Amino acid sequence: MRDTKSILLAGGAGYIGSHICVELLNRDNKYKVIVVDNFSNSNPKVLDRIKDITGKDVKFYEIDTRSNELEKVFKENKIDAVIDLAAYKAVGDSVKNPLKYYNNNLISQMNMLLLMKKYSVNNFVFSSSATVYGEVKADELPINENHPTSTTNPYGSTKLMGEQILQDCSISDPDFNCIVLRYFNPIGAHESGKIGEEAIGIPANVMPYITKVAIGELPYLNIFGNDYDTIDGTGVRDYIHVVDLAKGHVKALERLLNNRIGIEYFNLGAGKGFSVLELIHAFSRAYGKQIEYKIVDRRPGDAAIIYADPSKAKDILNWQVEYSLDDMCRDSWNWQSKNPNGYNI
Ligand SMILES: NC(=O)c1ccc[n+]([C@@H]2O[C@H](COP(=O)([O-])OP(=O)(O)OC[C@H]3O[C@@H](n4cnc5c(N)ncnc54)[C@H](O)[C@@H]3O)[C@@H](O)[C@H]2O)c1
Repeated sequence: MRDTKSILLAGGAGYIGSHICVELLNRDNKYKVIVVDNFSNSNPKVLDRIKDITGKDVKFYEIDTRSNELEKVFKENKIDAVIDLAAYKAVGDSVKNPLKYYNNNLISQMNMLLLMKKYSVNNFVFSSSATVYGEVKADELPINENHPTSTTNPYGSTKLMGEQILQDCSISDPDFNCIVLRYFNPIGAHESGKIGEEAIGIPANVMPYITKVAIGELPYLNIFGNDYDTIDGTGVRDYIHVVDLAKGHVKALERLLNNRIGIEYFNLGAGKGFSVLELIHAFSRAYGKQIEYKIVDRRPGDAAIIYADPSKAKDILNWQVEYSLDDMCRDSWNWQSKNPNGYNI
């Protein structure tokens, strides 16, 4: 049996994928990483940065995972497992352009699964999201994996449909081995400051928005409502350091490569929530100055509080978060301050 396993990382040049890549390469030659990305939301320079951090090369294919060209990757490599992160992720944009999201997120996933079947690759890790829990009521917290699923936007629908496709594959094929990871809110960056989230344009997520305020690219952060039933009236979310999230993928891979499990679902979250104001105060401590903000109206559909019950991941994957909110803010600011223009320095 080969000792080194080959992992195909689709979307591996992106924010989360680049951190997974580093974690895999840092595991003493246990993994060879093959990244496939079309750079639709990432920068080729990330590959040099990964090499800077790990001292190791990544085999790279610039391919759209929807295209026929993807087969080349399966022909040229003996792949042991696929981690599929290749998707569009902006909720607001998905409401305006639903077909763009259904097309990219679902066709790429199906193309990957068809090729996996053709080349007898059975291990699959899927990037899902807490958004599949739909609207969450206060008395349903913390959310565990058995919480009913539903969606409130086309992006969330692509994730839920993606999960349904995997469920059906698992029912039809006893060899198919799959872990669905439902991420909460990844923030932070690698401690080296060499890789992080490069938000193009106006960021859809709160942390890249804050870091753009910090470097003066945006004037202030809009906080959507301060009259929720929370510690200070602002919305509470479960933030997870991207390196903790990446380590959760390594644990999921280990489980898949060593066990026949069918399909399993895991929350990857910290298991506690912080309000937007708590996040701003923590970031301001790391930044050394106060981040400016304005309170504006609530956004329709936003829940007051959402946080995970991550106990299943702890019990079965032996995974839990290690980084604090202050660590996440320190590393986000370290990345942004060292790379004010992202990878284009
Ligand atoms: N960041 C979050 O808050 C979050 C939360 C939950 C789930 N997710 C999911 O995690 C995954 C990764 O998210 P991220 O934050 O790293 O996003 P990202 O945009 O930084 O990374 C996605 C990568 O996939 C690539 N890509 C997209 N479509 C492709 C295609 N058709 N062919 C080849 N490459 C393609 C992009 O160029 C990018 O490098 C996504 O599936 C996303 O939906 C993200």
